Amino acid sequence: MSKILAFTNQKGGVGKTTSTANIGAGLARAGHKVMLVDLDPQTNLTKGLMTGKADKNVYGALLADYKPHAYKVGENLGLLAGSTAISGFEKVKGDELDREYLLKELLEPFREKCAYILLDCPPALGLITLNAYTCADALYIPLEAQLYATDGVEKVIELVGKVQKRMNPGLQVGGIFFTRYDQRKVLRRDTADQLRAKYPGLVLNATIRESIALGEAPHLAQDIFTYAPKSAGATDYQALVEEILAR
Ligand SMILES: Nc1ncnc2c1ncn2[C@@H]1O[C@H](COP(=O)(O)OP(=O)(O)O)[C@@H](O)[C@H]1O
Ligand SMILES: [Mg+2]
Repeated sequence: MSKILAFTNQKGGVGKTTSTANIGAGLARAGHKVMLVDLDPQTNLTKGLMTGKADKNVYGALLADYKPHAYKVGENLGLLAGSTAISGFEKVKGDELDREYLLKELLEPFREKCAYILLDCPPALGLITLNAYTCADALYIPLEAQLYATDGVEKVIELVGKVQKRMNPGLQVGGIFFTRYDQRKVLRRDTADQLRAKYPGLVLNATIRESIALGEAPHLAQDIFTYAPKSAGATDYQALVEEILAR
């Protein structure tokens, strides 16, 4: 039975997609069967992994237009492609009974085949994110260590509490980790310390440094381990993968 990990933060640009792609690649390299799911209407995960066009995407499958189709994007690595149209999900399914459980149902057939299913959530706490939290085992919250970065965490933790009570009592926060980290900046160091004090045990040791290669790799539809195996980005994501595997 697979573990479903959701990468979430209501803020955009914090590294959700970069982390989903590279942690997924790291887990696949460690020999685990991994499925990635692109739930963001921006479809950056799909664009960064697939060179061709995806005819079947997760939104069409959520609407039951067709069965979910996994594209092979690497050894041990599959992708349920994203769609810009998923932004209409809330409108289309707004008053349907059990609308929070549609993704859980959709992923059911993959749970026997994959060790990990990684969900790249949109930067909003709407119905798509609610679907992700309803089926996830653990949430991972990437954030930029900067002023106000912690506001987003509080909103996520608040929603986790509600989802635990109603839809998914097993939901856990797997961890919070810092991306685009620059140790030289005092402000960022302070934010990290504050967060460690506020959520003891939740802040992971691995931090992802600012690394140009991480921004370049998706343009060639590659993960960081293929594109720049010796880069800070590869070293840091490898450490994060190992920490996630140990939790
Ligand atoms: N550690 C990093 N170093 C340098 N650039 C990064 C890093 N992490 C992410 N980026 C870049 O920052 C932008 C936002 O990252 P992304 O993963 O798309 O965030 P999100 O999915 O949360 O919106 C992207 O252009 C990405 O390439
Ligand atoms: Mg994204």
